[in-house]
Amino acid sequence: MRITLRLTLSLLVVVAAVAAFSAFFQLRQEREIQQEDLGRRSLLLAQSLQESVEPLLTKGPSQKLQRLVERFGNRERLAGVAVYDLKGTPLAVTASLASVLPGLPPIVAESMTAGVDVGGFVTVGGRDLHLHALPLRPDDKIAGALLIVHDAAFIQSHLSRIWRRTFLRVMIQMVLITFVTLLVVKWNIAGPLEQAAEWMKKLRLGETSEPLKLPKADFFAPIAKEVSTFAAHLAAAKSAAEQEARLRENAESLWTPERLKEHVRTRLKGKPLFIVSNREPYMDMHRGRAIETIIPAGGLVTALDPVLRSCGGTWVAHGAGDADFETADANGRIRVPPEDPCYTLRRVAITKEEEDGYYYGFSNEGFWPLCHIAHARPVFREEDWAQYQRVNQKFADAVVEEIAGVEEPCLLIQDYHFALLPSLLRARRPDARIAIFWHIPWPNPEAFGICPWQKELLSGMLGADLIGFHTQFHCNNFLDTVDRVLESRIDWERFSVIKGGHPTVVKPFPISVAFPNAFQDIAPIGKPVLDRAALLKELGTKAEFLGVGVERMDYTKGVLERLRAVERFLEKYPQYQGRFSFAQIGAPSRTHIKRYHDFLAEVDAEVERINWKFKARDWKPVVYLKKHHSHREILPFYMHADLCMVTSLHDGMNLVAKEFVAAREDNGGVLILSRFAGASRELRDALIINPYDIEQTADAIRYALEMDSEERSARMKRSRETIRENNIYRWAGNLITELSQIRREPRPAVPPAV
Ligand code: F6P
Repeated sequence: MRITLRLTLSLLVVVAAVAAFSAFFQLRQEREIQQEDLGRRSLLLAQSLQESVEPLLTKGPSQKLQRLVERFGNRERLAGVAVYDLKGTPLAVTASLASVLPGLPPIVAESMTAGVDVGGFVTVGGRDLHLHALPLRPDDKIAGALLIVHDAAFIQSHLSRIWRRTFLRVMIQMVLITFVTLLVVKWNIAGPLEQAAEWMKKLRLGETSEPLKLPKADFFAPIAKEVSTFAAHLAAAKSAAEQEARLRENAESLWTPERLKEHVRTRLKGKPLFIVSNREPYMDMHRGRAIETIIPAGGLVTALDPVLRSCGGTWVAHGAGDADFETADANGRIRVPPEDPCYTLRRVAITKEEEDGYYYGFSNEGFWPLCHIAHARPVFREEDWAQYQRVNQKFADAVVEEIAGVEEPCLLIQDYHFALLPSLLRARRPDARIAIFWHIPWPNPEAFGICPWQKELLSGMLGADLIGFHTQFHCNNFLDTVDRVLESRIDWERFSVIKGGHPTVVKPFPISVAFPNAFQDIAPIGKPVLDRAALLKELGTKAEFLGVGVERMDYTKGVLERLRAVERFLEKYPQYQGRFSFAQIGAPSRTHIKRYHDFLAEVDAEVERINWKFKARDWKPVVYLKKHHSHREILPFYMHADLCMVTSLHDGMNLVAKEFVAAREDNGGVLILSRFAGASRELRDALIINPYDIEQTADAIRYALEMDSEERSARMKRSRETIRENNIYRWAGNLITELSQIRREPRPAVPPAV
């Protein structure tokens, strides 16, 4: 039986049962009301007649008495009136009563014997009657009785009328309910299900890549979400299989998530991979009453999340979101990504004092400017150093907990926040295979020499088996620094350092993005991104050409220089005024540090100045979007911009450059790239500029806009090929190959650096 029919029948049965039940009670109540009413009326009538009858009773049957009862007997619904003496002999009876009630009803004797009114219903000859007998006392002594007889048939016909009306009402209700049910089922269930089935068919036939859109989002949202995710997985698996087949056909060796997964499984012999970083990949934040998960800005998360999504494992990081420990379990663990959990995030809690000293102080006011040549003076404070050591120790404890029970665990430590962690872990788990990857540049020995704790930091790092940088240049700087500062042996042939008998290999591993699925947090089948016209409308500028910059707002990124180059370009090539707009997306970062706070104010002022200088009605030279943007929000900018500007004054790699290239499936757009960003070593087809040279950058903007379309597409194709070959899966694969190949010889534990 079809579900609609079953639903309708069930509804009909329930409605009919409820209606019958309520009608039954209604009728019963109505019957009682009518009967009581009739009883009351009989009593009143009997009492009013009593006074006139009693004086005539002693005189026996008389015409006067007969006339009296006849007069009374004419009333509506009255079947008759009779007066009896003490023996029950009728003294006067209305003419109509004789045919209705032939004999003496027992109620008359009952009333005289009991000396009270007696009433009740009887059926005589198929007729419903109500009898009411009242004892008569002419001289305070019972001498007879008065009988009032009502025809009660009207009660039954009244009840039948009610029943007929109720029946009709129920029928109408049933028809309406059935009709409405069918409509509701059709609109809200059958319709969307048919739509979903149609969508699945189209998906299977490859005729759509749109997400499943169901009208009643609230009702169907969980199903639509699951089905879309499922479809996304299928699409990804299908595309991976096709890609594998293509690769086999072309005998290529492209790295894919599946290949990395298999590689890690073989290399680590099925053991999980561990990543440690300060910044966590998923941050839970209170937004009013709700909790929202955000993906923090920055290259580290962009690069490493796809690695763990592909091969699983555990990521240990600072739980910096204000709702992080509400969503995690009692040990700070939570499975992520939220929409498709495939690895564990272990959140480490640190106090405000620790965060101030370790993160804001030592890491970002000391180490950061120390490693970046961006003309900001490093600040080293004794108390920050103490917190840096304390937090490194805290993370060591958390990591030791996570790797308990795993033999020779493989650990990838990230960045300058954890220079001491390798040796702290080596001391506690000599069997661990430890790599530390440095996401920022490494300066020359003279520059590094200003750090008061350079020996401790270098010794801490050398607890690792492998140290990775983005470029050979940074590796060389590091080896030079170690050579200058520590007692150790440098093997320049193998690029390794031997300290205390422990070798550490130092190698470049240029980091990358998850090409071709760089935007995988937007499910492959996700909401369509904004088109160019809608994007410009949202920006509130009328422009023919669009440039974009995407940044975590940091003074090393050359944002001020970039804005000046845009200004110079508009000045030098006024034909572009009113036609070119530059959108700067900027996620505020490390704002508790004065240098960053001041930097934000400087950018505000510069944007304001330039926009004022070229003030026009519908056009803005610079649109500054100062807030954290999700990948979904950034993607349309990458896709529709004519050019993207990466003008870092000094940068380890810069993944915005690679993300922009990854987003340009149309082979459109031009990348203007600083020669001081690591990415410029690989992306040779970008327009490479010196961001300090404003004139050159302004000319690069013009060149990008006027570039012949063939050249533009050829450059972008080659850039995409570079990233396709050297994607994040290759980066992780190479790092893990290197780490797993390191020979393990029994050796004494290295004492911790601090
Ligand atoms: O680029 C250096 C780096 O530490 C990255 O590793 C990270 O993604 C980015 O800066 C973000 O910085 P923070 O974690 O301080 O917001």
